[in-house]
Amino acid sequence: MEVKRGLNYLDDEEPRIVAFCGKGGVGKTTSATATALHFTKRGLRTLLISSDPTPSLSDILENDVRGRITPLNQYKNLNAVELDYELVVEKWKEKFGQEVYEVLSSFLPVGEEIIDYVAGAPGIDEEFALSYVLDAYESGDYDVIVWDTAPAGGTLSLIKLQDRFYKHLGEAAKLYVRVRKAVEMLTKGRAKRDPLNTIASWENLARRVLDMLRDKKTQAIIVTISEALGVHQTERIFKEIRAFGMTVSKILVNYIVTEDICDCDFHRQRAKMQKKYLDILMDRYGKEPGLATLSQLPLEVKGIKAVDKVEELLFP
Ligand SMILES: Nc1ncnc2c1ncn2[C@@H]1O[C@H](COP(=O)(O)OP(=O)(O)O)[C@@H](O)[C@H]1O
Ligand SMILES: [Mg+2]
Repeated sequence: MEVKRGLNYLDDEEPRIVAFCGKGGVGKTTSATATALHFTKRGLRTLLISSDPTPSLSDILENDVRGRITPLNQYKNLNAVELDYELVVEKWKEKFGQEVYEVLSSFLPVGEEIIDYVAGAPGIDEEFALSYVLDAYESGDYDVIVWDTAPAGGTLSLIKLQDRFYKHLGEAAKLYVRVRKAVEMLTKGRAKRDPLNTIASWENLARRVLDMLRDKKTQAIIVTISEALGVHQTERIFKEIRAFGMTVSKILVNYIVTEDICDCDFHRQRAKMQKKYLDILMDRYGKEPGLATLSQLPLEVKGIKAVDKVEELLFP
């Protein structure tokens, strides 16, 4: 059965990006961290990126990794970074703010405050996370990137946003071409970057992001729980990721309680309840893409030692 292989990869399936998806609290950050540790132990240059808006990576690693890529003392090859919302909006403004202003102000009467307005739009943090992952991916500095994504809704809207962004860019360019003559007359003499070039660079960026997400070596792992809620959410996320053209490599079912853990009434009932949903999940995903499980541990997962223990369970 697939479960025995855990999250292990076959040699010819080595991923370049592993994205952990799922709703909040299911164990995404925990399993992403354990997976990053796994690749590190195998000698791969590994980057762990968390764009989960509820920051917990620094807690788990017991290292401050907020805002910048930080090598971990214990493992030279393991680098981690946590992107929280405020920081991401700042970084987005630094990276795209001026360009957005230049393009919009070339055909609309807007001031620089438009940058703050656009930066406050929903999904901007996710859009930035994508470009951040892309930079790391294209840098060649890492063999593998483990990405702890924003919870379910977020990840999906991120993917949709990327698609929408891509389509809208074409419209922006068309609109600009229409007003171009007038704009040129108004801005005559003022040497400025041609907004069409900037728009083309956005289009190129969006295309590279899509290519990265749809690459066979980019794989999503959906983390879930063995309850009705978990079954429904898995179905929804699985469908959407697939429809988008991204590979789902495994469903990871966390917090599993088995009867051999304890034979008290509480645990027996819990194990029985979980078995019902685990059977459903196994039925649907056991063959393809395959199921992996993680037992409920007696303690919270905090510190590298605890993560190491999870790594051993996830990669038997
Ligand atoms: N298998 C497990 N057994 C015990 N505790 C776990 C397990 N998986 C996760 N946890 C704990 O559950 C909490 C939530 O996990 P986390 O990975 O932060 O979830 P998410 O990132 O999906 O919100 C953390 O305190 C973590 O230590
Ligand atoms: Mg998390």
